[in-house]
Order: sequence, then structure tokens, then C-alpha cells
Amino acid sequence: MNHEGTRRVKIFDITLRDGSQSKVATRINLDDLLRIAHKLADSGIYGAETWGGATFDVCVRFLREDPWERSRKLKEAMPNVKSMMLIRGQNLVAYSNFADDVVVKFVEAAARNGIDVFRIFDALDDVRNHEAVIKAVKGVGKIAEGAVCYTISPVHTIDKFVSKARQLEDKGVDQIAIKDMAGLIDPATTYELVSSLKKAVAVPIHLHTHDSCGLGMMSALKAVEAGCDMLDSVLSPFAGGTGHPCTESLVYALGRLGYETGCDLAKLTEAAETAKVVRAHYHEFEAPYSGVDCRMLVTQIPGGVMSNLSSQLRLQNALDKLDEIIDEIPRVREDLGWIPLVTPTSQIVVSQATFNVLLGRYKIIANHTANLLKGLYGETPAPVNKELRQRVLKDENPVTVRPAELLDPMWDKLQKSFPGLSDEEILIHAIFPHEAKEYFETKKEAGAA
Ligand code: CO
Repeated sequence: MNHEGTRRVKIFDITLRDGSQSKVATRINLDDLLRIAHKLADSGIYGAETWGGATFDVCVRFLREDPWERSRKLKEAMPNVKSMMLIRGQNLVAYSNFADDVVVKFVEAAARNGIDVFRIFDALDDVRNHEAVIKAVKGVGKIAEGAVCYTISPVHTIDKFVSKARQLEDKGVDQIAIKDMAGLIDPATTYELVSSLKKAVAVPIHLHTHDSCGLGMMSALKAVEAGCDMLDSVLSPFAGGTGHPCTESLVYALGRLGYETGCDLAKLTEAAETAKVVRAHYHEFEAPYSGVDCRMLVTQIPGGVMSNLSSQLRLQNALDKLDEIIDEIPRVREDLGWIPLVTPTSQIVVSQATFNVLLGRYKIIANHTANLLKGLYGETPAPVNKELRQRVLKDENPVTVRPAELLDPMWDKLQKSFPGLSDEEILIHAIFPHEAKEYFETKKEAGAA
């Protein structure tokens, strides 16, 4: 029995962003997303993740859809639901750092276009990379959620995660997310981590996990038992495997246990029926396998990373090297200070591990690896390999300041380069300069037709 009476657990349905990203490569267009959003609007969910992560990139690069309009329209469709976005710290929605003034402009535009909650993470968990975004979010009066990336390594202890959360609270975040991007967290660790966080910080705790190893639902329940305030989940047609715990099952189970989610199961079921029809339209973007995959419990390499790696190796006719690369990945992670495997560090580690196996260990040091060793991404969870660092630094000094301190303000220059454009349009140019050209040309042709 639950002896806390009817404690409230807030549900964030994340079908529209991470659900779509995890199952059909973010390809769902706005009209289809809106069909689901209209059904979710009065289902009682507290929040919905609608934007950020890969959505901006895919809108500009593949869908030729205005990313800002997407956020705005989804908020209009669900006015009583908090709209959440995932923002990669100083990288915004791209893969490298932007100057502080661009960060401010981006956050202002996102807020103006409907975002209420900004989930901020950094691939190195260097809180200095959260700083500028947190300040900008507070500046526009929105909710700043600081995310701690969950990963497994010899240096990642409960104490380490808790100390990161404390640092984020000190920087002014309104809530803390445990971001388990690979679905690696297990129920026992979840219980211990959430309990420790509840003791250490005053702000609410929010669990984000995937169901990759089939642990998601159990971890979500243990999180709630330990006092977790908010959960991420997706509608049943997107649930499980590389996706997430299921919204309807959680609402049902938590209700039976005496927790209050405020959700209406009948309405969620209607939304799920729509989501089922929508997913079927995008079958060409489905991964060959998106079910539960427990290899990760042994390799600790996220499913998404594994499937990318396999397809790259297939292209290079080197699939027979897969096992060697899997063994090399933790060695490279150690050399790079036990960084978590999340965008963009997962790509950096995997590419370097692949080079090491195919060409010989560190015969080639990729550019991104070199930058990471130099400290350009920030401070790593543990010190990097000294010899490798020396090799790439030569006579330079490692970067020890907040990495964005090295970037000059850029906004004035951008405004001069794109006269007459809105802040939103300038930001598309700033964030994806190569793709923006074709994006705007396509838009123009469509407008003229
Ligand atoms: Co995720």
C-alpha cells in the first residue's frame, strides 16, 4: 500500500518529440503531430515535450518545415499543457557551442514561440555549459530544468550525480531531470538516486528514461516510490524498447497505487488510437528493430549508438570489426575522461574507437577528439589521458575557462549579414548555415508556386 495518500505525480507525455525521434527518426510532420496534440490537450497531462533535440535539425534539413511554427502551433493546440523542449546547453539544438548573445536570442525566440519548460543538458555534464541558458530562461520568466546525464562508468557514483544536481540548483534551475538517454538506469539505482536527490535538493525531480533494456516501467515506479515528482512517458503505440515507458499504463498503475496523475485514461486512449494511425504512415523510417534489447546490460553501449555503428560498418564492409569496436569504446571513453554517450559525445567516442580499430590506436586523432582533449567542450567527468592531451596541445595550453568565454558576440554580425529577416529566420541561418540556404530557397519556391 502507498501510505502517502494521494501524492501528485506529474506526467509529461513526450510522444511528439522523443517518441517520434526514438521510433521514426523525427520524421512526423506538423499536421500529424497536431492530430495527436489535439487529443492530448485535455487528457490531463501536465506537460508535453514538443520541441528541441533533433526536431529543429530535421525540420530544416529534411522536412523543410518552419521549426518555430511547429513549436507555436503545438502550444496553441495544447494551451493548458506545459510545452517542453530539450536544449543541448551552449550547443542549443546543434552540435557545437554558440556565443552567449546567440543563446539569449534563441531562448527568447523559443519562449515567444510557445516553450514553457527548457530541459537543459550538457554532454560533459559541465554545469558551466548550462549557465548561459539557465540565465536566459530565467530572463524570460520560463521554467529552467537542469538535466544530469545518467551514465555508467567507474567515476559515475550516486554522489557525483547528486553533486551535479546541487551545482545546477545553485545556478538557479527550477527542477532537476535525471536524463537516462540510453535506458541504462535500473530500478534499484533509480530508487537510490531519487532518494538521495530528494534529500540533497529542494526543487522537484523529473525522471527521463528509455525502455531499451525493458527496465523503464520498473524504474519509473521505483522513482515515484522514492519521491520523484514528474515522469516522462509516451502513448502506447510509441512505448517500449528504444522508446519510453507507456503513459496509459503508468496512469493506470499509479492510480491503482493511490497516486494522483490528474489524467483521464479514456482521453489518453483516444490519443493513442490517433498516434497508432500516425506511426503507421512513417513505416519507412522505422529502424529494423526497435524492441527490447538487453545487450546493453553487458556492453553499456546505448542501442541508438549500436545501430548507427552497425550501419556505418556495413557501408564500409567492416561489420566483422563490430565486436572489437565495442571493446574499444570503453577504452576511448576512459581516455576522454569517462564522458557520457549522448549527442555529440557519443559520435565522438564511436568515431575515434572505429578509427582505432580500423587504422591502429590513435594513428589518427579526429578533430572532435582533439578539441575534446584540449578542453574546448568543457571539463570532463574525469581527467583525460595526459599523453594524448599533450600530443594534440603541442605548445598550446588546455582550455580551462567556460568554453563559451572564447567566443565573441555574434548577433550584431548575424543581423548585418541577414538584413530584413526576423530573429527566428536569422537563428535558422546561424544554427544550420549550410542547410538554411536550401531550406529558404525551397520555402520561397513553395510560396511562389
Ligand atoms: Co530520450
